[in-house]
This record gives sequence, structure tokens and C-alpha cells, in this order.
Amino acid sequence: MKTITVLTGLALLSLSLTSCLWEQSNAAQPGTAGVSSVSPSTDTQILEQQIAYGKHLVEITGCNDCHSPKIMTPQGPAPDPKRLLSGHPSDEKLAVVTDKSVLQGYVLFNMNSTAATGPWGTSFSGNLTPDATGLGSWSYESFKKALREGKFKGLDGSRMLLPPMPWPNYSTLTDKETAAIWAYLQSIPPVRNIVPAPMPPTG
Ligand code: HEC
Repeated sequence: MKTITVLTGLALLSLSLTSCLWEQSNAAQPGTAGVSSVSPSTDTQILEQQIAYGKHLVEITGCNDCHSPKIMTPQGPAPDPKRLLSGHPSDEKLAVVTDKSVLQGYVLFNMNSTAATGPWGTSFSGNLTPDATGLGSWSYESFKKALREGKFKGLDGSRMLLPPMPWPNYSTLTDKETAAIWAYLQSIPPVRNIVPAPMPPTG
């Protein structure tokens, strides 16, 4: 009886070790898992799981709040499915703030909540779709660096990302999570949109 219990215990342990290793090996190759290669059937399955998990993460971490232009619904503003995660629309003209006193101690958002004005000036959320004007030309490594270290374009030596991009909140994302978010973002429809450069404070 004792032997059976021990054996069952060992079997369970090795099962859970196997699944741990499986997870680790997926996490260890996030770049490839996000897009290409490996053996077709299993890989498609893994990729589909990653995309679904990435979609969930993007939704609960609020990327759409700032990176998706909105449409009005009975529940209020919601992400526009046609421009999902495409960043601040290049053709949106921001209203000029004539009464500067409204900026004292406040942060001002546009209606899409894709642009924000505060002590840092005005920043515009980036295009996260796989279009060439978005993350199309990015490597997975750059994406990870942008999210975890707050580097513009994810490049060493580039400027830090401006508020309100809450990258410090994302600095502890695991490889598995960043890989899933990347896989999802690479799977959404590409939207052509050249996001304007940030503007310095007007004083
Ligand atoms: C509260 C608003 C806000 C939220 C939430 C937010 N972002 Fe951002 N994000 C921004 C803004 C604004 C910028 C542009 C900052 C700048 O120009 O320095 C930005 C920039 C980025 C960049 C860099 C773009 C570039 O060209 O360097 C990436 C990548 C990014 N965000 C991904 C995400 C992801 C993924 C999420 C969700 C996990 C997210 N953001 C959530 C506002 C936000």
C-alpha cells in the first residue's frame, strides 16, 4: 500500500515536472512562438493558446484604454473594432487649450484617450498593430524592452517612454506573458496610422 502511494506520488511529481518543463520551454522561445516555425500542429495549438491568453492580458491590463480609438456605445466609449490598438489617430485634430489655467494640476485626455497633456507635454499612444506604421517592423526583443524597461521603440539608448504609458506596472511581466501579448498583437488586423511625435510642454 505504502509502495503504491509512493509510486503514485512519484508519478504525479513527474507529471507536474513535465508540465513545468513544457511551460518553460514555451516561455524560453517567445520570439518564435509569437510568429513562425516549429512543428505545425502542436505549434499552431500553442500559438492559438498564446493569442487567446495575450488577448485576455491586453484586455485586463487596459492597453485598449489608451491605444484604441473609441466609438460611443450605450455603455459609453468602447474600443473601435476597426481601429483596434492602432494608437492616436493621425487625422485627429486636438482642440487648442486656450485657458491654460485648466492645465494647472490637471492632466487632460482627448475623447479617444489616445492623447494626454500634462507637465511632460502632450503624448500620443503608439500603434500596436502589425502594420509597418505600428509594430510591424519591431522585433520581439524590442517589444519586451519597451514594455519592461520603458524604452521608446524598445531600443537601448533611446528616450524613456512618456506618461501616461504605465510601463513600470508592466516591468514585472513574465516571458510567458510578454510572449502571449506579442502573439496577440501580431495576430490583430494591421491598421495604417502614423502616430504624431510628442509635443513639449507649452508652459
Ligand atoms: C494610460 C495609457 C496607456 C496604457 C494603459 C497603455 N499605454 Fe502604451 N503607451 C501610451 C502612450 C501615451 C505611449 C507613447 C509614449 C511616448 O511617446 O513616449 C505608449 C507607448 C507604448 C509603446 C511604445 C511605442 C513606441 O513607439 O515606442 C508600446 C510598445 C506600448 N505603449 C504598449 C502598451 C501595451 C502592450 C499596453 C498594455 C499592456 C499599454 N501600452 C498600455 C499609453 C498607454
